Amino acid sequence: AGFLPFEHEPYHDFAQPAVAQAQREAFAKVREQYRGRTFGLYIGGERVEGQGSYEVRNPADTREVVWCFPKASAQQRDEAVAAAQHAFETWRFSDPLQRASIFKRAAELLRARRMEFNAVMTLENGKNWAEADGEVAESVDHFEVFARETLRWAEGKPVYPMPDEHVTTVYEPLGVVVCISPWNFPSAIPLGMALGALAAGNTVIWKPASETPLSSLLMLELLFEAGLPRNTVQFLTGTDDVLGDPLVDNPQVRMIAFTGSKEIGCRIVERAAKVQPGQKWIKRVMAEMGGKDPTVVCADGDVEAAAVGIVQAAFGYAGQKCSACSRVIAEDGVYDALLDRVTELARGLKVGLPEDNGAIGPVIHAGSAERIGRAVEAGQKTARLVLGGETPDMGDRQGGYVSPTIFADVDPRDPLFQEEIFGPVLAFTRARDWQHAIDLANDSDYGLTAAFYSRDPHKISEARRRMHVGNLYINRKCTGALSGTHAFGGYGMSGTNAKVGGPDYLFWFLQTKTVAQRY
Ligand code: SER
Repeated sequence: AGFLPFEHEPYHDFAQPAVAQAQREAFAKVREQYRGRTFGLYIGGERVEGQGSYEVRNPADTREVVWCFPKASAQQRDEAVAAAQHAFETWRFSDPLQRASIFKRAAELLRARRMEFNAVMTLENGKNWAEADGEVAESVDHFEVFARETLRWAEGKPVYPMPDEHVTTVYEPLGVVVCISPWNFPSAIPLGMALGALAAGNTVIWKPASETPLSSLLMLELLFEAGLPRNTVQFLTGTDDVLGDPLVDNPQVRMIAFTGSKEIGCRIVERAAKVQPGQKWIKRVMAEMGGKDPTVVCADGDVEAAAVGIVQAAFGYAGQKCSACSRVIAEDGVYDALLDRVTELARGLKVGLPEDNGAIGPVIHAGSAERIGRAVEAGQKTARLVLGGETPDMGDRQGGYVSPTIFADVDPRDPLFQEEIFGPVLAFTRARDWQHAIDLANDSDYGLTAAFYSRDPHKISEARRRMHVGNLYINRKCTGALSGTHAFGGYGMSGTNAKVGGPDYLFWFLQTKTVAQRY
């Protein structure tokens, strides 16, 4: 009985000409099928139009409007919450096996359409093929993992028995869950939060980032095709004034699941704490926020492996990941050699079009490039710039392009060391010894991911104990958590540590009922 053992979805090998060709064809097909179209909202199981619409543009060249999405009105937003509340009364009692089966079917449907989903994502957020493929593979994993987790949590948990009572501990859903997600992982992040809610028997208001709505909508429509009742998820796009605070404040909302910036996460936590008139619960908030993730390299560490891991983690998707390595803290004995090697590898990364699988694509907005540029300019006054700092020449393409940038000799008090830049900017800091390196790594408000390179069992076990992060990676890069294996979520100001893809994630979306029955 039950599912076969879980296996991670393999990545495509784009070095094979036929695979690369299939990816290229998927771009052509996606443009033919979707370009210029205006998509809809989903409210109460119906696809509806909004009050006007907005354009989604290709960040690699913003002259291209790829598709349009509706702007939901305030009335539609409130209708959506009411519809979610109504659907909850049925969905909460749905059979967990049927919920799990929907996720299994969705995994199968997605496997057949991965290239298309990759292409849509690239056109919306500028990921290159490998980055988009990794995320879509993670989404397949999410379906498989949440199918299994649905059944595991449906069983309840054993308690110590009583002689004259039958006692059970079971888990029940909460209600309406608002899922607010960022543009940098437009499939896997909203999907993880929505599946967590749905697996547990909640209904969902799905609000994707306005930059990347189609990556989300296609995922939702896949779920509908797999048999998810259409009224269980309300899909809303539009403007933040309509869909931000008012959704968080709505007294019918039971929980907010958020992934994004520290600023917005803290705002949601604060607003949700206020009990609104008519509200019958304390709202639950899951807020997964930023990182300033360090890689520590000890003098005995493998410099080559560390350099490769650092470059992938710092510059993959132009550093626009909360998990990205943005600080390297190296012991004195290895600092110069490591800096040289990382610089050499990073210099080899060419800025190019994501659609051509360029190593470094655009950042999400021209405004982001300007913001990153200001951080780099300020950094030049306080630290030693060893790579980057100039704007790459992309011809007449309109987009925010930033070259891989490395600073050396960064002081721990420097904003380059403390503040999340969310771009391809890496800061090197020298440590006296490996204990000092761990202290420096922990000198941060954040605590999401970290990598630690050493071959010494004593140092490794100290790092395991002392590094203040939710995801610690020993002798490997600090990005690329796999659903089901690397439960993902941080410490400190990185958020609520909900650990998506982990064994306790569903608990966040559930409440616990104890029933004691006298025989
Ligand atoms: N889960 C991603 C990673 O591990 C970040 O969101 O890189």
